[in-house]
Amino acid sequence: MLDRKIHYLELDKTHFDAVIALGNHVHGDGYLDQDKMAEWVAKGIKNGINSNFVAMDEDKLVGFRICYSPGQWQADQWCSPDMWKSEQEQTAYFKCNTVDATYRGYGIGSKLLKLASKALQNQGATAGVSHLWRQSPGNSAVKYFTKCGGILIQNHPDKWHQDSIEGYDCPVCSGECHCVAAEMIIYF
Ligand SMILES: CC(C)(COP(=O)(O)OP(=O)(O)OC[C@H]1O[C@@H](n2cnc3c(N)ncnc32)[C@H](O)[C@@H]1OP(=O)(O)O)[C@@H](O)C(=O)NCCC(=O)NCCS
Repeated sequence: MLDRKIHYLELDKTHFDAVIALGNHVHGDGYLDQDKMAEWVAKGIKNGINSNFVAMDEDKLVGFRICYSPGQWQADQWCSPDMWKSEQEQTAYFKCNTVDATYRGYGIGSKLLKLASKALQNQGATAGVSHLWRQSPGNSAVKYFTKCGGILIQNHPDKWHQDSIEGYDCPVCSGECHCVAAEMIIYF
């Protein structure tokens, strides 16, 4: 892997099939489909700036990062805007970051986050919030986000429980999902 040259591109429709395949493989069946992709990706485009990116090893998609632009997403019961130092309408949402298992630990996830952060800043964001999967393999999600400047706001048990009842098949839990989400923020 070390000798591979990774290219970073804005995520567009031509990447949807490969993103869905990688996303469902890593996060579990039912995590992504064409409708969700179209909805999620549109939320990350603002003022003509796309904050969604993919990482490519030649023609193979090996990672992706999806974001929601400031003002284009709703805070829900899993968000604590009172505890953020940024204004809610200037806060972006880091929706999903996924890297193919054989390509992890080489800086691809961090690079995707940096590219997205720059695009979000150009859209007017002063911070980005995310829910990190505490049970991710090797706790890689919280580790990589912390390394990129992420600060813990608070933990949310059972964040994906309802999704698991509605079809999401968590790769860690057998049956209903009881994974914990760490609500974290990066100030730009
Ligand atoms: C989380 C993820 C996107 C990070 O991408 P990545 O390309 O592996 O991350 P980077 O190479 O930029 O690594 C950044 C830091 O993350 C941590 N990390 C990365 N891979 C790791 C692993 N396999 N085990 C433990 N920690 C890991 C390390 O602290 C690393 O810093 P270091 O190399 O200086 O030790 C990727 O590991 C992944 O897809 N994991 C599974 C899916 C997931 O959990 N997605 C996030 C959902 S919230």
